Amino acid sequence: MQNTDYDYIIIGSGIAGLNTALLARAHGSTLILTKGRVDDCNTRYAQGGIAAAVGAGDTPALHFQDTLTAGAGLCNREAVQVLTNEGPQRVANLIQWGVPFDTIHGEVALGREGAHSRPRILHAGGDATGQHIELTLASRVAESDITVLEYTLATRLIVEQGQVQAVETLNSATGERQTYRGRFIIIGTGGAGQLYQYTTNPEVATGDGVALGFRAGAQVMDMEFYQFHPTALWLEGAPCFLLSEAMRGEGAVLRDRQGRAFMGDYHPLADLAPRDVVSRSIATEMERDGGGPVFLDISHLPGDVVKSRFPTIYNFCLNYRLDITREPAPVAPAAHYMMGGIKIDTWGRTNIRGLYACGEAACSAVHGANRLASNSLLDTLVFAQRLVSSSLGQAPEQADSAGDAPAQPDLLRSLPRRAPVCASMPEFNRANLQDLMWRNVGINRNGSRLLLSARILNLWQPAITDTPDTPEPTDRAAGELSNMALLGRLMVESALLRQESRGSHFREDFPETSPAWEKHVVLTAEEV
Ligand code: FAD
Ligand code: SIN
Repeated sequence: MQNTDYDYIIIGSGIAGLNTALLARAHGSTLILTKGRVDDCNTRYAQGGIAAAVGAGDTPALHFQDTLTAGAGLCNREAVQVLTNEGPQRVANLIQWGVPFDTIHGEVALGREGAHSRPRILHAGGDATGQHIELTLASRVAESDITVLEYTLATRLIVEQGQVQAVETLNSATGERQTYRGRFIIIGTGGAGQLYQYTTNPEVATGDGVALGFRAGAQVMDMEFYQFHPTALWLEGAPCFLLSEAMRGEGAVLRDRQGRAFMGDYHPLADLAPRDVVSRSIATEMERDGGGPVFLDISHLPGDVVKSRFPTIYNFCLNYRLDITREPAPVAPAAHYMMGGIKIDTWGRTNIRGLYACGEAACSAVHGANRLASNSLLDTLVFAQRLVSSSLGQAPEQADSAGDAPAQPDLLRSLPRRAPVCASMPEFNRANLQDLMWRNVGINRNGSRLLLSARILNLWQPAITDTPDTPEPTDRAAGELSNMALLGRLMVESALLRQESRGSHFREDFPETSPAWEKHVVLTAEEV
């Protein structure tokens, strides 16, 4: 008979899930549920690397400052302190576990990325950092006593009297449904890039954990902040493949169709400006030039250096007959990273007892309004360690709100679970949702398009299983679509509320940053 009772149940098998499981297993029986194969996740595709203040001349204080600057006034300072102080030790653990970070003359090699004041990005296999991390952690899990169930979609969290009890699942291969009970349940389900038509994220990134948590009563924060990576390949017939920011860290330059380097017109850091600035600048250039891509030029480096520093990118492009050592790559921004998520404190705790969140699905506001490049892999490592400590009773009593006292109180809103059923609308399907989000909730936003999107999403709502009593999804695709539509609503409602521009959230009708908005939007589901 299959065991259905565990101490730790972890949903997701990216860096957040695998690392948490490896830390938790010493303290109790541990189960990982994952909806595809173990390595179906964002983590595997990470290119640039992990940021940590380990180099000569670098300090956690400098890393702290760069993270705050990129976060545009909305970082939780306490979380950033934790991240930057504890980061070097967590990276040392990864090295001990066998992640083969690249070295030069026996020292770890450090790359540079946008808005970092020092070279501080550890990388592996040149631009294959995520693949090496995922492989290393997954093989340690495979050799351990951790139970891993693949093709097992988490469909619902069961909460009783404020305490999480269990997770319901659907096996997408056999159709079997099962309930697993856990003392601690950890959401490590990653991001939601699939909400957008153009994204660097793989198919599994549909925001499931945030939707599950929200329906179960967890608070969700900062959903208006979605990061668009400036440089995804824009080539007829090719997927939306990431061309790492580390290329610009090595001196690559963005050029317009006429070959002019344009980033100096927009920011003193030019090509290494914060990511939100570079993405918006590219969008402006694209519009000016009639909608086509801009170009990323790395031809200043010798061909053999490009091939050894960026082997994955070089070979991928070559498969599409683009030799980046000789010609610039056509690129455009694409949806990349969700700054918002399930609200956690600096010990990974949500507002539901026993329920934790980690990684891209979680939001401690460590990234503020715009994540500093290569801080997200680090974030998962640091907060996984703390959430396991917290499950062992090693954390202080939980405060009412996550992190230290904000400059201004958060804006807390409850969202009606259902909108009234209205007249017929464009068909509710994945492609229409992605198109809506890309057009109206993308790099440039405005009130009227957000309002229109809110109305459409509300009208689609009857097609969405969104209350605790509605039937379970019939299959994985139906479950994902319902989750994506709910996340779309959370993003649109938050973006409508925030009447200013800050970090990755840019509103044409409120282009300035307002001190009155130095606060977080926190959403909860209306009581039923
Ligand atoms: P993921 O790695 O996405 O894992 C989520 C897991 O949850 C998956 O296994 C998924 O199948 C599973 N899952 C989801 N829903 C369910 C469900 N309902 N039931 C069961 N399982 C479920 N960050 C950096 O710091 N440095 C970089 O260089 C970098 N490069 C990147 C390059 C690319 C192309 C991309 C897409 C992202 C990059 N990022 C980078 C961001 C970083 O990779 C991610 O933020 C990080 O890997 C997220 O880890 P995670 O474990 O939270 O989520
Ligand atoms: C990249 O390599 O450009 C991605 C880095 C990140 O998202 O942190």
